[in-house]
Amino acid sequence: MKFGAGESKSSSGSLGFIEFKTLPFVPERLYWIHSVPLGESRGNHAHKTLRQFLFLVQGEVKVELSNGKNREFIELKKIGEGILLEPGFWRVLRNFSPNCVVGVICDQPYDENDYIRDEDEFLDWVSAKYGS
Ligand code: TYD
Repeated sequence: MKFGAGESKSSSGSLGFIEFKTLPFVPERLYWIHSVPLGESRGNHAHKTLRQFLFLVQGEVKVELSNGKNREFIELKKIGEGILLEPGFWRVLRNFSPNCVVGVICDQPYDENDYIRDEDEFLDWVSAKYGS
């Protein structure tokens, strides 16, 4: 599902914003991805419990999401456009345009133990949790 941030446009430029009350969780952390070399991907992991709102600050990017059974491709092309990333999705960010910046708002502090970084391990985790 795509969500949109707010935007104010004027002759002196544009200003994007997100009211935290519109998010379905209380933010604890913000990080951003930038300066991704052409052809590189980011993500390539899943989270066990973390909820995130990923949004486009600048440029274009393609997000691949898999719940272990179905794969979905979401293209973010409009500044401020974003997606709610629930736990239990293998995510890969690809096709970063030059100068692309992606912001990610999270409901928990950084915790390496919340990551699943191996796709086979992710598939095992999904089967154990939801059945195969
Ligand atoms: P990671 O989430 O693995 O990014 P990606 O999947 O895009 O490669 O983060 C890369 C590294 O950055 C991670 O190993 C530790 C560090 N990091 C933090 O210290 N704090 C954070 O909030 C995040 C997201 C990452």
